[in-house]
Amino acid sequence: MYARKIKDGIHEVGIQDWGRRLFDSLIPLPDGTSYNSYLLRGSEKTALIDTVDPDFAKEYLENLDELDKLDYLITLHSEQDHSGSIPQVLEKFPSAVVICSEKAKDLLVEHLRLDPAQIRTVAEGETISLGDKTLQFYYTPWVHWPETMVAHAIEDRILFSCDFLGSHSAGSELFDNGDPAVMEAAKRYFAEIMMPFRPAIRGNLAKITKLDFDIVAPSHGPLWNHPEDIISAYEDWVSPRVENKVVIPYVSMHGSTAKMVDHLAKELIKNGVKVEIFDLAVTDIGKLAMALVDAATIVIGSPTVHVGPHPIVANAAILANAIKPKARFAAVIGSYGWANQVVDRILALLPNLKVEVLGSVICKGVAKEHDLQELAKLASLIADRHKQL
Ligand code: FEO
Repeated sequence: MYARKIKDGIHEVGIQDWGRRLFDSLIPLPDGTSYNSYLLRGSEKTALIDTVDPDFAKEYLENLDELDKLDYLITLHSEQDHSGSIPQVLEKFPSAVVICSEKAKDLLVEHLRLDPAQIRTVAEGETISLGDKTLQFYYTPWVHWPETMVAHAIEDRILFSCDFLGSHSAGSELFDNGDPAVMEAAKRYFAEIMMPFRPAIRGNLAKITKLDFDIVAPSHGPLWNHPEDIISAYEDWVSPRVENKVVIPYVSMHGSTAKMVDHLAKELIKNGVKVEIFDLAVTDIGKLAMALVDAATIVIGSPTVHVGPHPIVANAAILANAIKPKARFAAVIGSYGWANQVVDRILALLPNLKVEVLGSVICKGVAKEHDLQELAKLASLIADRHKQL
């Protein structure tokens, strides 16, 4: 049995996925990930909170080989990286009752073909007693699915939060211990997964911060033994606050757009604005997502392919639209050869962004002196608008 002790009768028994490099066939995982699972042995009943990705079901069951009974299999979130091994756990413990939220029941039946008779739903604030341990459940919808909930171990003062407050990283440390690398992984995770749900997260933070806990135990990454760190980081990330920063994702085919990006960046820096530039042809989109958490402005740079934006730029715009950063301003720059509709086509891909478009600079061929002056004007306008925030 492989188990890492958190408190008396509470162990982490999940899997470190050291080699995984992509999630959802989209999200880069530079440091792997973990699927945390928690075993709680009370004086009367035993419960597991969440399972692991089904690819690791066999190894996970080996972690549980000394467990002789299981009363409750609690699933806080139905996505398969946590629920995917429920069928195998139920094969080993056929009398275990699956505990989940009302909305999760249908998802578990549909995705995993679980028998509805084996599922018990819990209401907001409902408790389950394990004897000397009590779990209380709170609905925290949209972190990042509609059915998500958290479990509060009242006597042990632990909040089991599943994806909420987690981070994609594999590692040997049980707790974050204030490691800045864990916080960076958590910000990356927030940017990629949670950012579109800022209003729901604000409500969920208000709910959970009323609870009494000294450990947050998420389903990915290390546990937080100073929970105030991750709570205050989330409060900032979901707040309206933006930084005096411009993020410039771009593609350049023959150097024209790259020259414009470079000139705009220098003008912004001269105006006291922080700049982060991402060449989309080679960039880690997780880093771009992180930069978008608090940037005040996005400037998209694209050459023209036929009459529209470069397909890689279009892909990034669709992604930015999906993760809904809180940027206040946007602009488009780029170049073309003989015809272009780049600006309109890029902006049409961003309906979810509540941004004021400050303008565009599109040049024919290589940027001339006039185009460079237009870029300088754009930089000055951005700097002025940032000062007004
Ligand atoms: Fe870690 Fe939404 O699953």
